[in-house]
Amino acid sequence: MATVEEIIGRTDPNDIDAILAITNTDVDEVEHVVADNSDAIFTWNYHKGERPKLEKLYEKAKTSQWNAETDLDWSIDVDPLQISTEIYERDKDIPQPVDLTGTGAEKWEKDEWINFGMESSAWALSQFLHGEQGALLATAKIVETVPFYDAKLYASTQVMDEARHVEVFAKYLDTKLENSYPVNAHLRLLLDDIINDSRWDMTYLGMQIMVEGLALAAFVFMHQMTTEPLLKKLLRYVMSDEARHVAFGVLSLQEVYDGFTAAEIRERQEFAFEAALRMRDRFLQQEVWERQGVDTRIIAPRLFASPDNQEFQHLLFTKIVPNCKKLGLLDAADGWLRQKFGEINVIQYEDWVDTSEEYDAFAITDELQSA
Ligand SMILES: [Fe+2]
Ligand SMILES: [Fe+2]
Repeated sequence: MATVEEIIGRTDPNDIDAILAITNTDVDEVEHVVADNSDAIFTWNYHKGERPKLEKLYEKAKTSQWNAETDLDWSIDVDPLQISTEIYERDKDIPQPVDLTGTGAEKWEKDEWINFGMESSAWALSQFLHGEQGALLATAKIVETVPFYDAKLYASTQVMDEARHVEVFAKYLDTKLENSYPVNAHLRLLLDDIINDSRWDMTYLGMQIMVEGLALAAFVFMHQMTTEPLLKKLLRYVMSDEARHVAFGVLSLQEVYDGFTAAEIRERQEFAFEAALRMRDRFLQQEVWERQGVDTRIIAPRLFASPDNQEFQHLLFTKIVPNCKKLGLLDAADGWLRQKFGEINVIQYEDWVDTSEEYDAFAITDELQSA
């Protein structure tokens, strides 16, 4: 059993200085190499449908493919300045939730806040892009490493889905926002761990349950908030795929965890906790503040303590916590993960809808047929 320090490199999960000390020290890096320690597994058992829920998901995926170039209207003109200005005008009378004294942002006027809004959007979409590439590599790895035939077939459809997601976010950033950010260091550490681990079920847990679960919640939130029609439709399409992806994780891992010892489950709990913290920590979006000349050591603790900020961060866990519960990860091994999720204030989502059956609600079959 690992200590919290062994899991995330610090004894206090909320140690702001330690969180801020993790930065991307090579922002010009183009190729990032990670050792993949897994065995590739052939199966000679070609009985399709031995896992009926996975087979159903595979059939669903085959008819839910969309084309990033032709199903989205890339001729829509996007004006980031106008969008950020509209948001500023809408929200300008809402009291600032964080005390900005001494941060460098206390004297910001309209222009600085509008600029911050544009940078913040570019940062968020850039991290989605990098996460999508992580999902592309992770699911290619799952095709190789999972021993079950139905799961290999399904995972192959997800590789294509993730390629499409990388494609749309890269194109949107490049041609519409004309702005982007390198990968956040917390996110990269997590993606590295997911690819590096030799155990195939860890790839599933890290990517399909944790990263995808958070991404689905974040996409739902952004889809609700944005008024920009191209981004709204793009997110709607991506969400329809992501809901299947999270279901794939839950449906695959259930039977595997049933056969695990308490010690093996505890290792999965620790990885889930590590992933939760890495993802939470990246949402401080320290790179955006730094690019705008704000002292993150001063503003970060205030952001961390802000109820508004906490509410948003916690919302990101609305899919992860119920899915961990469905997998039995909360209460196994003396409830270690339940306690940890309680300490970071996300356990209250345990009884929200899990995502094993929710994908039908996100389907876009009607839109694809009428297009
Ligand atoms: Fe994706
Ligand atoms: Fe995905």
